[in-house]
Amino acid sequence: MSRQLFVTTALPYANAAFHIGHMMEYIQADIWVRYQRLRGHTVHFVCADDAHGAAIMIAAEKAGQTPQEFVARVAAGRRQYLDGFHIGFDHWHSTDSPENVELSQDIYRRLRSNGLVYVKPVEQFFDPVKGMFLPDRYIRGECPRCGAADQHGDSCENCGAVYSPTELRKPTSALSGAAPELRTSEHYFFRLSDPRCTEFLRGWTQDGRLQPEVANKAKEWLEGADGRQLSDWDISRDAPYFGIPIPDAPGKYFYVWLDAPIGYLASFKAYCARAGLDFEKFLADPATEQVHFIGKDIIYFHTLFWPAMLKFAGRPYKVPDKVWVHGFITVSGEKMSKSRGTGIDPLKYLQLGMNAEWLRYYIAAKLNGRVEDIDFNPDDFVARVNSDLVGKYVNIASRAASFLQRIFAGRINLPMDPSGAPTGSTAVALAAADEIADFLDSREYGKALREIMRIADFANEHFDKHKPWELAKEPASRDLLHAVCSDVIGCFRALTIYLAPVLPATAERVARELFGMTRPLAWDDLRSPLEQIAPYKHLMTRVEARQLEALFEPAAPPAAEKPLPGGAPIGETASIDEFARLDLRVARIVDAQAVDGSDKLLKLTLDVGEGRHRTVFAGIKSAYEPQALVGRLTAMVANLAPRKMKFGVSEGMVLAASHADEKSQPGIFLLEPHAGAQPGMRVR
Ligand code: MSP
Ligand code: ZN
Repeated sequence: MSRQLFVTTALPYANAAFHIGHMMEYIQADIWVRYQRLRGHTVHFVCADDAHGAAIMIAAEKAGQTPQEFVARVAAGRRQYLDGFHIGFDHWHSTDSPENVELSQDIYRRLRSNGLVYVKPVEQFFDPVKGMFLPDRYIRGECPRCGAADQHGDSCENCGAVYSPTELRKPTSALSGAAPELRTSEHYFFRLSDPRCTEFLRGWTQDGRLQPEVANKAKEWLEGADGRQLSDWDISRDAPYFGIPIPDAPGKYFYVWLDAPIGYLASFKAYCARAGLDFEKFLADPATEQVHFIGKDIIYFHTLFWPAMLKFAGRPYKVPDKVWVHGFITVSGEKMSKSRGTGIDPLKYLQLGMNAEWLRYYIAAKLNGRVEDIDFNPDDFVARVNSDLVGKYVNIASRAASFLQRIFAGRINLPMDPSGAPTGSTAVALAAADEIADFLDSREYGKALREIMRIADFANEHFDKHKPWELAKEPASRDLLHAVCSDVIGCFRALTIYLAPVLPATAERVARELFGMTRPLAWDDLRSPLEQIAPYKHLMTRVEARQLEALFEPAAPPAAEKPLPGGAPIGETASIDEFARLDLRVARIVDAQAVDGSDKLLKLTLDVGEGRHRTVFAGIKSAYEPQALVGRLTAMVANLAPRKMKFGVSEGMVLAASHADEKSQPGIFLLEPHAGAQPGMRVR
């Protein structure tokens, strides 16, 4: 039975770049989505920036930008991470979008007409200088219990006391330093304590759809030991606020956590419009499964508020079928720090030329279906990647393929038993299909990979046992040699299918380069005929300890401490006329391809608005996945004399930044104009 799935990951706050925790969540979800697609199921996989809220409004103000400008800058940086780590979202959106305004207001109106919204006055601290109510974290003062100075509005770091901001002694606003005043205003509440909600949630959280530990948490919240009922939820904030206006309530906005999960639907809706799908029909279809991947810190929002909102908004909205919670990733046992330079910077990882699939594999190997934290350990990373991926998996193909090519012209002759079923290591691989499928489907990736590596071990041993290098010397042993090599290649194909969700780029290359396929591998290819392979091309290099050292090297000191960040002295003076001789243009990258035989170059097809395309070879392969460049704008020197190179004629040069000493400070950054520039525009 074919499944139809709507899958999301948590929407990241739009005030910072991604860290390794985000990447872990995307990798977990992406593997699951790719696995479902491999099985032929329909999956729509979306995410978006979580743009609203006081924190972003205040950060934007500090940066001298409008909140819209501020989040747009962060959003513009998302793509290189997602493309770089092969995260295959169908769509990336923003909660600050027309779709989200429409859906949030619609859901709110439905809840209101269902009698689940009410208004009551709330007394809160107000900053008279800023003219706004202060969120708890922007109030500082003396702890009411121990008297420690400069404590947060909700808890004391010195004695651990928890209190409400109004209990603080000598409170001040962290924004203006002014003494805040208590003021009262009307707030809108969602009546989570309504018996209809409680009853619904008792069923929804306990019917087996949640992981047991998550269901238990929800149960504690629902039936607090002291018999307390769920508190109602304050869903409004007063202007000024960066958010969505509440209908019929001038000056009131939805609290960011109300419109954030609705952003899942907004992103999907925008995607449907783009892809020609019927949003409401897909959502309302009982066969559709709605699945959310989230971290353990946001369970309350996703297992109480969110399903209740959807339930009582009614059709076409549907309650989530699954909310799958993962633990946190630490790096060498340490929690993520907000400041850069500690932990792992995913972008630096890519810029160092490290293979994204190493990280996907390593994280997958550590993940299971429970809410457990995992740790990134550099030594363990090197050992895992090198021994499993290179030493076991890739090794099978590189060794067997060379015999097959050299002696049998790439022809495969899979040994079969009398019933026509494969034997040897191919049989071992096929026998594990259902078990591996179950592991992948239940997010037990670690178990799936252990099973896959067990099979790879078997194939390598099977191969070695027959001493193919000796068989190759004896003409009488040709058939046996052919059978052994064919068998382990059959096994390798099965392993590649199992690994495809984790290693999508490698699986794509194996399908195309080794098996000569014009479409991606599918699960059903486990049993499709295998007759011929093309010459083996090197698949994956080993990770080196020094790459990990470079990754963990503290970030370079701020530019001000160094005379020249680029490391090179400024060149000789040029006259304006000399500069004007260069015709610099905005170019759209229409296509980008790796160049066979070159580890530096990408072949770019550029549109500079001339009614024809140009070919330009650029030495940027170490920094970019070709696919990630397609569609993007850059700048080029358009009147450079064409240059004949080994791989063809280059008709110009794209502009990119790098350090003077690229060896010790790697990284290449293509120039990209701000949004709105058109191909062909002059740069001057
Ligand atoms: N904006 C909210 C989510 C709104 S969903 C409607 C938010 N954003 S976040 O950027 O702080 O976190 C996004 C996701 O990353 C969450 O699922 C969070 O649990 C996850 N992670 C944040 N740090 C993490 C780790 N160290 N490890 C794994 N995941 C972590 O929360
Ligand atoms: Zn205290």
